Amino acid sequence: MTRDELLKIKQEILSKRKKATVTICNSTGGIAAGSRETYQSIRTEAAKRGLTVDFEAKRCGCLGKCAEDPLLTVAVEGMPTVTYARMTPDRVPALLDRHIVGRQVIPEFVLEKNEAKQLKIVLRNCGIVDPENIKDYIAQDGYTAAAKVLLEMKPEEVIEEMIASGLRGRGGAGFPTGLKWRMTRATPSDQRYIICNGDEGDPGAFMDRGVLESDPHSVLEGMLIGAYAMGASIGYFYIRAEYPLAVERVERAIKQAYGLGLLGKNIFGTDFSLDLEIRLGAGAFVCGEETALIASIEGKRGYPHPRPPYPSVKGLWDKPTCINNVETLANVPVIYQKGATWFSSIGTGKSKGTKVFALTGKVRHTGLVEVPMGTTLREIVYDIGGGPAQGKKVKAVQTGGPSGGVIPADLLDTPVSYENLQQLGSIMGSGGMIVMDEDDSMVDIAKFYLGFCVDESCGKCAPCRIGGTQMLRILERLTDKKGAPGDLDKLRTISLAMQKASLCGLGQTAPNPVLSTLRYFEQEYRALLPEAAPTR
Ligand SMILES: Cc1cc2nc3c(=O)[nH]c(=O)nc-3n(C[C@H](O)[C@H](O)[C@H](O)COP(=O)(O)O)c2cc1C
Repeated sequence: MTRDELLKIKQEILSKRKKATVTICNSTGGIAAGSRETYQSIRTEAAKRGLTVDFEAKRCGCLGKCAEDPLLTVAVEGMPTVTYARMTPDRVPALLDRHIVGRQVIPEFVLEKNEAKQLKIVLRNCGIVDPENIKDYIAQDGYTAAAKVLLEMKPEEVIEEMIASGLRGRGGAGFPTGLKWRMTRATPSDQRYIICNGDEGDPGAFMDRGVLESDPHSVLEGMLIGAYAMGASIGYFYIRAEYPLAVERVERAIKQAYGLGLLGKNIFGTDFSLDLEIRLGAGAFVCGEETALIASIEGKRGYPHPRPPYPSVKGLWDKPTCINNVETLANVPVIYQKGATWFSSIGTGKSKGTKVFALTGKVRHTGLVEVPMGTTLREIVYDIGGGPAQGKKVKAVQTGGPSGGVIPADLLDTPVSYENLQQLGSIMGSGGMIVMDEDDSMVDIAKFYLGFCVDESCGKCAPCRIGGTQMLRILERLTDKKGAPGDLDKLRTISLAMQKASLCGLGQTAPNPVLSTLRYFEQEYRALLPEAAPTR
């Protein structure tokens, strides 16, 4: 494959584009809502009508507002593209007759848009490209960044550009991606590895699933660029087994990339070669932690181990290894297409670019959203999310999943950044964002997350294994109204011990939901203590 051949594929695909295209969601959310039936119905009805219009029905990935699925877009030459919501098969005849043939928008089907405050970098192709067709990705300039990097840049220059972009890892910890790449390259070795972390186990999070199912080639291209920069010749997609559609699409993407010579030996005619394979997640949350993930790929039990040494120095089979999150990697091609200066002009001080959130809970428009760093939580919840679902008051927003915490409604004007969220006692995490209203008990929320961490603790270190269990017992005592006055102090003391002494991030961060709910909603805990119970 040469750069000219890439361009030829793009021209070929563009020249075949029809005058009218219906593009329908074919991701988990859409499929669950019946999009495959709708797609079939579009094809059957179009054939029945013997449509004279130059028309095609195409399948794409996630269009974002999953609660409104099946979603589809209609692009008719000479008309603005329209997105329709809840497109069940019974709406298909109207879609074809009124919009495709009649060239009239159907107002009652139109999706209420909330894109004004969004900026799609990671999700740029989601809902646009067919994730099962590499040529469709190439038609969106796919693999041109990899061509530029491999043909025109030295690995060190690629790393410097990444450092200049300011991109930080989107998997939770927010470590600068360029520095991780530099450390991995700097470790002398005969073999280096790159791993894409697609284990996404946080309750409420589905950002990475959305990207892998909707635009697998952008992640693959990100890995190709990262591998070249670091001198890695073997890479793994570690994807949770509970994401079968993502696994299937990545598998197909890898096969197609090999087919066009974008993986394998001498990519773009250079002396750089890369082989990629998939490994299925072992079904435990802790396997997303990088040292546990490495153990899991090695065929061992997914136990974490202390760092340093970091994987960049001693990783998979003791060789230098870089682990990057799905969203991190999906950012990579665009950074080399548009440049580090462009990327670092988006966002705030130390938080550059955008962040994808899985917005759920008591909010009208749930789904995947992507906003520039610096957007306030209020803008996300109200302007994008449409505010509370049942007309109740928003009480708090939970970010960061089991490692994060709640942010009360009166702090919603905080701009989203790694630093700001941490200062409030929560974290950005991987991007789950759950809106809670007056009906939600903050103690129940804390108990839910802690229960999750206790279930998912691997049990290797005592602070996590015993500390988590003891904290959960106290929370259960409280919600059973059997608590004792010293219980809140005990929760704080055990939290501190777990944070300081746990072996990995699971135990170190498991107390966060408890601590943050205690920080902002201590009265809810106190109300559960026996002395606060009403007297007869
Ligand atoms: C318990 C636990 C689970 C984690 N799960 C994930 C995960 O599912 N996906 C992910 O990308 N990172 C996860 N991480 C973070 C990874 O260890 C690692 O920091 C990340 O994959 C690095 O990629 P990044 O620098 O691109 O963010 C987890 C960490 C911990 C402690």
